[in-house]
Amino acid sequence: MRNIIISSLVLLLCLTGCSSRQPQYRIGVSQCLDDAWRQKMNAEMERELLLHPEMSISRRIAYGSNELQCAQIDSFIKERVHLLIVSPNEAEDVKPAVTRAYRAGIPVIVADRRVSGDEWTAFIGGDNYRVGQLMADWLLSIQAAERQAIHVLEVAGLPGSTPATLRHQGMMETLARNGGVQPHIESVMGEWYRENAYDVVSAYLRTHKDVDAIVAQNDLMAIGASEAVRDSKNYRAGSVPIMGVDGIILGVQAVADGVIECTATYSSRGDMVIETAYRILSGLPFVRDTVLQTTMIDVVAAKAMLIKNEEMQHELETMRLFQMRSDQRWKNLHISRIVLIAVLAVLLLLLCQVIWYLYHKQRTIQQEIRKEILPQLEGMQEAIQLSHRDVAFAERMKQIVDEHLTDPNLNVEYLGSALSLSRTQVFRRVKAVTGKGPLDYIRERRLLRAEELLRTTDMTIQQVALELCFSSPGYFSKCYKDYFGHLPSAR
Ligand code: FRU
Repeated sequence: MRNIIISSLVLLLCLTGCSSRQPQYRIGVSQCLDDAWRQKMNAEMERELLLHPEMSISRRIAYGSNELQCAQIDSFIKERVHLLIVSPNEAEDVKPAVTRAYRAGIPVIVADRRVSGDEWTAFIGGDNYRVGQLMADWLLSIQAAERQAIHVLEVAGLPGSTPATLRHQGMMETLARNGGVQPHIESVMGEWYRENAYDVVSAYLRTHKDVDAIVAQNDLMAIGASEAVRDSKNYRAGSVPIMGVDGIILGVQAVADGVIECTATYSSRGDMVIETAYRILSGLPFVRDTVLQTTMIDVVAAKAMLIKNEEMQHELETMRLFQMRSDQRWKNLHISRIVLIAVLAVLLLLLCQVIWYLYHKQRTIQQEIRKEILPQLEGMQEAIQLSHRDVAFAERMKQIVDEHLTDPNLNVEYLGSALSLSRTQVFRRVKAVTGKGPLDYIRERRLLRAEELLRTTDMTIQQVALELCFSSPGYFSKCYKDYFGHLPSAR
């Protein structure tokens, strides 16, 4: 019985537990910054994760600090995450922590910015050198229009980060390769931040009144630079063409609005990063080094992108609505399932109780039968056997008595010897069978014969009394009256 209850509970646990697929892979995500571009990347990762419920991520942000990022990576190592995704703040400074993770057997995906060395599992990021080439092409087109060497201000990202160095390198090498008149390029450090860019560009413009173009290594710094131009006493708002990088919606909007002239796309592809993580964790083949393409967005492309973006936002909104509805449906379904399971559980428990009750009832009945009814039955059986013996005894006794009614020696002793019983036994058994003593019984049999004789023969009362051994006719008459209620003469 207990087994039934335990198995039903186990079954119920299974029914409720098996349903939701729990994440089995914990992924640590170490982000160097938390700006608009990274938030887009995070959102792409989250969306892709919806397709992979077997993975869960925990994200930590280093806010531009190499030390903090290393500490955060170390904490992921300690937590034994199944995979690490790192977007390193600076390639050299974050390398030791990444190497530690890799050597601890944790697969490492490096995203966007590269890390020094090659102790990592996969890389996915934009083509920064190509971005630099696009910058150079743009500068050359301006210079061609100006027909003289131009004065360019480069607003660079964090120097130790690979996008900053590669973008610069791509730009400089392309310009050099182009030959001819070289633009005059000076760099200031914006370290990827809009506010920093505003400050450094403002300071630069105060002392340089002949800047022809600004290349900012990301959109945020490009917008910061445009604000610096707008606020500068030496320049008219919008009078210096500015190029950004990233193509985040803020940058595209700035291009469409004429705040900056152009921007280069720089994909984040958080979805691809998660897909690669899934492939690595599942032992599927994956590409070790993925370099994402880049292209230029001018005002025409920006406007087209904004229209497309709006359409996509609508689609996304519709999809979100659908998702919300299907989530709600799932929730309802889940609730109904829980209710169903609860009802089933209650029914099961009731059934168990009924079975338990019946089982107990059966046992008590069995015990009662064993304790009370069986002994009774046995008693009855005994009684039946006894009564059989009594009937036989009564018949035999009646036969003996009836055969010796006229015999004056018919008495208790005679009966005892005829029935092979002692005198006491004769008394007890005759009493038990007939309810009277042996002498009363013999007398009753004699009176019944007397009545028969008187009725069927011509014998007188005297003759009958003598025949049946009554001591006197008077005594016979008295006994007769006692038995039949009237005298033999009154018949
Ligand atoms: C975002 C960002 C981007 C830039 C990239 C380079 O954090 O600064 O604007 O393109 O990082 O790693």
